[in-house]
Amino acid sequence: MKLDVLMIGGGMIAHDQILPSLYQLQRRSMLGDITVVAQSAPTIRSLAENELIRKAFPGHTFKAYPDYQANPTARDPELYKSLLAQLKPRQIVIVALPDQLHYEAVMAALRHNQHLLVVKPLVLSAAQALEIEAEARKRNLVVGVEYHKRLDDRSLLARRRYRAGMFGEFKLGTARLMEKWYYRHSNFQNWCTAENSDAFTYIGCHYVDLVAFVTGLKPVAVSVYGIKDRYPNGNEGYLYTDARVIWENGACLNVQNSLSFPDAAPGTNTQGITMYFAGTGPDGAPRGGWLEHSDQYRGLKYSYIQEPSSPGATMFTEPSTDYFQYVDLGGPGLEVVGYGFRSVEFIIRNILQVEAAPEGDRPRLLRELDEAGVMATPANSFYNELVVEAGRQSILSGGREVAIQQPSPA
Ligand SMILES: NC(=O)c1ccc[n+]([C@@H]2O[C@H](COP(=O)([O-])OP(=O)(O)OC[C@H]3O[C@@H](n4cnc5c(N)ncnc54)[C@H](O)[C@@H]3O)[C@@H](O)[C@H]2O)c1
Repeated sequence: MKLDVLMIGGGMIAHDQILPSLYQLQRRSMLGDITVVAQSAPTIRSLAENELIRKAFPGHTFKAYPDYQANPTARDPELYKSLLAQLKPRQIVIVALPDQLHYEAVMAALRHNQHLLVVKPLVLSAAQALEIEAEARKRNLVVGVEYHKRLDDRSLLARRRYRAGMFGEFKLGTARLMEKWYYRHSNFQNWCTAENSDAFTYIGCHYVDLVAFVTGLKPVAVSVYGIKDRYPNGNEGYLYTDARVIWENGACLNVQNSLSFPDAAPGTNTQGITMYFAGTGPDGAPRGGWLEHSDQYRGLKYSYIQEPSSPGATMFTEPSTDYFQYVDLGGPGLEVVGYGFRSVEFIIRNILQVEAAPEGDRPRLLRELDEAGVMATPANSFYNELVVEAGRQSILSGGREVAIQQPSPA
């Protein structure tokens, strides 16, 4: 079975991860036609004409909207709605829009009976997540939230070992994910502004999700202290954040995020997590457990003979093989590898499996996906919306602690 794809949004995440992953799945005959709609013609042009993606996927193209060849300056924020209306029912819509626009696009796609892959965070409020869950359930549609760190093998290993009792119980953790300074010059300055989002909401949510994914614990309170800074265009954003998440067993996770990792530093970011646990050994003696992940992976060191042209790329670099890379397996073109690809593939496979099943089996399959808890769904990752919503309240009130109420999804 093959389904067609409409991707809404053609910015950084579409370029870095989603479009090449879709092409690879198309190459494997899992997907039919791919359409991408962005808000403006220049954005869609730079995605369509990207040299590396073209080289990796010769013969693969997407239908581009707005039509940048006919009108190179076109701009239409409503265009995706008419494209949704034209899409056959029960295909795949990918939402790769700025955080605060997810809700409207997701609901529109569900009302047109489309399965969804949504980049994280799903939405910014718990009530919206519940609405999405109910709408999808009513129509037997898959909504996969693309928390790609879940498909990193080190997360899956930690999850299995934690659940086998090998670490003991989570007590204290510290995580960080600092994006490079040049992000401030990107389209982020137009939307990741103080009134819409912040460094924790944008990227810290990965580590909150990961701790819940590994331990099965639920967060109960959040406080986020944010430091505002100005983007080059003068907009203000919370570009540095320090969050404290308290969990139902009393454990505490600290998450620091920023758009501040120096452009001159090697690699695309710095990120990782340390967790401390406590439990009882087989001899009955109390013991401490410990886990440390260097998530940017610094095992490779390269020094090139010329400055690479892409932003934030350096002559001395420490590339990670983990998230997303292009490799030559003899062609045609290049293959994409890493958990960024595996995560997209996993969600698309789940959608194809549900769609291929007889109608009567779909509710059971959807329930199994929720219960297995490996693919994030509105039902099984609802705590993320609770944390984001409480985190926004906290940051806007100077960092006070906000308690999370745990209503169970309808
Ligand atoms: N590590 C990660 O998981 C990760 C990394 C980057 C981004 N993201 C998420 O991806 C989403 C998008 O981020 P990005 O980095 O690609 O941002 P971006 O600013 O580079 O791209 C946003 C895209 O949305 C498009 N857009 C805006 N309004 C639109 C409309 N009305 N119709 C059609 N297109 C519209 C813009 O044209 C642009 O192509 C965000 O939710 C972000 O949090 C996740």
